[in-house]
Amino acid sequence: MSDYVTVAKTSDIRSGRGKAFTINGRRIAVFNDNEDFYALDNACAHALGPLGRGRLRNGMVVCPVHGYAYDAKTGACQTDVRLHVRTYEVMVEGDEIKVKC
Ligand code: FES
Repeated sequence: MSDYVTVAKTSDIRSGRGKAFTINGRRIAVFNDNEDFYALDNACAHALGPLGRGRLRNGMVVCPVHGYAYDAKTGACQTDVRLHVRTYEVMVEGDEIKVKC
């Protein structure tokens, strides 16, 4: 059964940046878009690059390895429409970021 897991404080992730966490055995990247938070699989669907080290620009997470871009809300890849990464629900309670997985 999936449940929300507290992963970080909102102040731990700067706007436009991400950070990867291990949650229930999965590596998940959490991004801050002006205090809206999004969670995606950390492994890029292109060649497993670490998305959590990428940047978030205009709602798109950009992989730091080859620059493929993913919609932070849906995980759809803009660079190669055949690719996508899984996304996870995020809830902020007080200053805690919680991810459901
Ligand atoms: S590994 Fe992410 S774009 Fe290639």
